[in-house]
This record gives sequence, structure tokens and C-alpha cells, in this order.
Amino acid sequence: MRPISRFVVERDGVEQASVVLGRAEIFEREPLEYAVARLSWADGGLGDARAVVAAAVGSAPPGIPVYLPVSAAVSADHAARRDVALACGFELFQEKEGFRWADTGQALPEPAGLRLEPMSRIGPEAFVSVLGRCVAQTLDRTDALVFGRQQPRQWATTFLNHHASAADAQSWLYAETTGGAPVGFVGLAQREGDPEVGTIVLIGVLPEQRGHRYVDRLLTAAYRAARARGFVAVRSLVDVDNHPMMAAMRRSGADPDADPWHGWLFTSARDA
Ligand SMILES: CC(C)(COP(=O)(O)OP(=O)(O)OC[C@H]1O[C@@H](n2cnc3c(N)ncnc32)[C@H](O)[C@@H]1OP(=O)(O)O)[C@@H](O)C(=O)NCCC(=O)NCCS
Repeated sequence: MRPISRFVVERDGVEQASVVLGRAEIFEREPLEYAVARLSWADGGLGDARAVVAAAVGSAPPGIPVYLPVSAAVSADHAARRDVALACGFELFQEKEGFRWADTGQALPEPAGLRLEPMSRIGPEAFVSVLGRCVAQTLDRTDALVFGRQQPRQWATTFLNHHASAADAQSWLYAETTGGAPVGFVGLAQREGDPEVGTIVLIGVLPEQRGHRYVDRLLTAAYRAARARGFVAVRSLVDVDNHPMMAAMRRSGADPDADPWHGWLFTSARDA
């Protein structure tokens, strides 16, 4: 988040609560969106916490959504933070589960019936149209919102520019059947600030290929790519409403309870 202003409640010169209003990075391709973050308050100061959040929301331009993220991985008091959000008129926009797949040396068979090509060999162009068609009916609420505002090609190109860096191009995999029919893709990247851990940035199966568990083979392909890159684990976030993806993650052996990784994103739009 890029900070704009900080809001503070002070009593007798002592800070009781503070929060920052900034531009939301989660929607960095949508520069009009705002977020409140870095909320902190003194023991028992829930009223002060609500006051700084309300002041921050009130300072944003009217009619433009303000987002408030809460992360269980960052804040042990995430339940209290969610209560503050709801008390300040926010609504839950998205809830995400964090999965952790650990490389324990388990068998990772080469995915049968699929031909996989890394972006480092075939370039990004083949991914652009496949990404656009896969994400058109995504159940991920953030992707659906951002995608719905843009042209599919523009969205896919911008997304790949942001999330498929040179080093990661070897683990963005395009998939087709052995007969040459396009199936989908999976993008595995190094987790920012964590050289030993990967993350599945995006995965998709084309609408006409769905329901054949291709997603399982794409996940195996991603884990094989993670092992080839020397990652010890793959941590990925999935929208809890994306039932096919939640089920596929579980089938792949990724654990939703391995760590307290869980996120909530609240939204609040003031009347214009
Ligand atoms: C999530 C996704 C990758 C699953 O791929 P998949 O290979 O079709 O997965 P499955 O074969 O396990 O099918 C999952 C469910 O899709 C449904 N399905 C079956 N046929 C389908 C079809 N023709 N079209 C749409 N959905 C279908 C079924 O309900 C199936 O569940 P069930 O067989 O367990 O009852 C795919 O739906 C997709 O690309 N979605 C859009 C992008 C997305 O959400 N990506 C994940 C977030 S990054």
C-alpha cells in the first residue's frame, strides 16, 4: 500500500490508536481504490480503533470503495480487527484460505496425457488468450472484480507483466493435450522475500476442458517445477468460495491448517 495520510487518537499526549489510509496495492492496476491498513490500538481501546478507521474512511473521496484487509498470519487479534471493520460499516468482500504444500520427497509423477511448455521456451503470447478465457468465469472475487473492468487481453498482458518475471518464466507452464488441444496453464513464482518458497500465482483450465480433474495434473506440474527450483514448500491463497479450487488444493496434499494463513478483505463504499 502507498500511504496517503495517518489518523491518530491521542489522549494526554499518548497515542491510543492509529491507522493509515493509502492506495490499495491489491488493486494496483485500479489506482482509484483506497485501503486502510496498519491499524493499531492500545489495550481496551476498541472505541479509539473504530474512531481512527471511521476518520480514514471519511477522508477518502465519496463513492469510491475503501478496502480493509485483515490477515491471521500478521495479526493474532484478527477477530477483533474484523469486529472493528464490521462496526465501521465495512462488509466482507472476500475470504481466502492459505494452503501449504511441503516437499517431503513424495512421488510427483509426470502428468499423464498433458504436454507442458514453460513460458521461458514459448514466450508469453500463448498464455495471454488462455488466461483471459480461463479467468472469465473465475470464482475468485478479486480476480472477477478486476477482470470485469478490463478487456481480457489487456488484463492478461498486465497481469503477466506483473507476475511472470524472468526467473519465474521457467515455472509458468502452458498445458495442452498430447493431441495439441489447449487445456490451461499454471503459474508458479517465488514468494516475495522468501527464496525457498513458491506460490501458485494463478491456475486455470479452459471452460471446455473442465470437469476432468486436469487441475490435479496442473498442480502436480507446479509442484514438480517447485522441486526443480529447489523450493521446500508452496504456499498459495484460495478464495474460500472457489469450491473446485479449494477441493483440488486439498486433493494435492496442500494443508490449510499448516500455518495461520487466512485473509479477509472488507469493503466500504461511501455514498456519493
Ligand atoms: C478451478 C479450475 C482450475 C478447476 O479445473 P478442473 O480441471 O475443471 O477441475 P475439476 O475437474 O476438479 O472440476 C471441478 C468442478 O468443476 C465442475 N465442472 C464439471 N464440468 C464442468 C464444465 N464443463 N464447466 C465448468 N465446470 C465444470 C464440477 O462441479 C467439478 O466438480 P466435481 O467433479 O468434483 O463435482 C477451473 O474451474 C478454472 O479454471 N476456473 C477459473 C479460474 C480459477 O478459478 N482459477 C483458480 C484461482 S487462481
